[in-house]
Amino acid sequence: MILTRNYKILNLNNRVILHGSARFLTKKYDPTVKLFGREYPTDEWTNVNKSIQDKLERKLIHQKYHPLNHLANKIKHFFYKTYINRNGNPLFTIFDNFSPVVSVEQNFDSLLTPKDHVSRSKKDCFYVNRNYLLRAHTTAHDNELIRSGLNCFLTFGDVYRRDEIDSKHYPVFHQCDGVRLFDKNELFKDKALEMDIFDKDEAGIKRTFEKQEYYTLDASKIVEYDLKNTLTKLVQFIFGNNCKLNMKWVSATFPFTHPSWELEIEYKGNWYEVLGCGILEQKILTNAGAENHIAWAFGLGLERWAMILYDIPDIRVFWSTDEGFLSQFKYDDPTHSKITKYKQVSVYPPCPCDISFWLPDKTDSYEYNSNDFYDLVREVGGDLVEQVTLIDNFENKKTKKISHCYRIIYRSMERTLSQSEVNELHKKIEAKAKEQIGVQIR
Ligand code: PHE
Repeated sequence: MILTRNYKILNLNNRVILHGSARFLTKKYDPTVKLFGREYPTDEWTNVNKSIQDKLERKLIHQKYHPLNHLANKIKHFFYKTYINRNGNPLFTIFDNFSPVVSVEQNFDSLLTPKDHVSRSKKDCFYVNRNYLLRAHTTAHDNELIRSGLNCFLTFGDVYRRDEIDSKHYPVFHQCDGVRLFDKNELFKDKALEMDIFDKDEAGIKRTFEKQEYYTLDASKIVEYDLKNTLTKLVQFIFGNNCKLNMKWVSATFPFTHPSWELEIEYKGNWYEVLGCGILEQKILTNAGAENHIAWAFGLGLERWAMILYDIPDIRVFWSTDEGFLSQFKYDDPTHSKITKYKQVSVYPPCPCDISFWLPDKTDSYEYNSNDFYDLVREVGGDLVEQVTLIDNFENKKTKKISHCYRIIYRSMERTLSQSEVNELHKKIEAKAKEQIGVQIR
């Protein structure tokens, strides 16, 4: 709870943020907080609450058939197939399992975020204590990965921000960050050109809106082109080559890149920021031991992409455990090209009812097929049936008869269904299945 606050309006990454020098009423925390089996002492910075801790376990991008899992797989596939090294191996190393608990050093200092930068505020981040927080972006891993010697990598993960509450913002979301380093040989493949990454003309070296002081304009422009080209191709791959999406590059500011841009996509008449990117600050490369390189970096929000791709109107939907939502994405997608459009799930409660029957014996002219039953349910139940799934299938060894059990979920888009209404409908389905398909209700 906030006692006093002097509001200042700051513009960070094109987003207006209310920044206050606030004094917080200290909420009582236990002396330690346990995250992923490790205990952290709490202090006056601690503000990770129980509800956010519950989210740490969900791992939505690893949940098979979740739309964020489909999207992450598509992005991975794009980089694996498009960027191959001389030996035929993927150029980009992909990480998707780093712990979201990171140090203040990883999340901010290693990325040159000034000590008094708004993004560090307790108001915007979930702090475990003064030294650790739940990462606010997957960029937090860039420094270490560069230091470990990687030149091309992607990091996927859940990120945490205390934010406004609406259909587009949620305290947990998912990002994918990418980085690519180039040395002189990679950048200027045509050696005859005699070009350099670094500007040797010390006198005239200045930072401009186009480039950092260290680099030649040629080097900076080539890397900018490669970055924008990579991301444009990624957008085309994800949203389908022939879909007509309007895109625009908007110049931006981040503490860790210069120059920097955001990519905006037009969707249903509004422009949405879908990623931030830029040329990585040379100082970050130098600190990580890669001083003779130049690099681009980007970070994209998976929910934003998925909302546009699958027509999902509200970010809370991703956290739903409702089968009405999850079942819409239950498909294998070996070519990573399938795009399903989401159908709004009803806000009224579901009423599940099971039906079990022996299948009719196979004859020369008829063999039972589940689709016959599905059609019949549709015919009788209409839009009051949300879903039908085969939940049990067995054969009686003696009689050789096969039994199926289906779960029918009844749910209306307009109202709460009464149990008697559902029972009546269910009985009609039983009767019709007996009469039309010849099943024997058990
Ligand atoms: N980390 C930035 C964000 O979360 C995105 C970004 C990543 C921008 C890398 C530039 C380079 O908004």
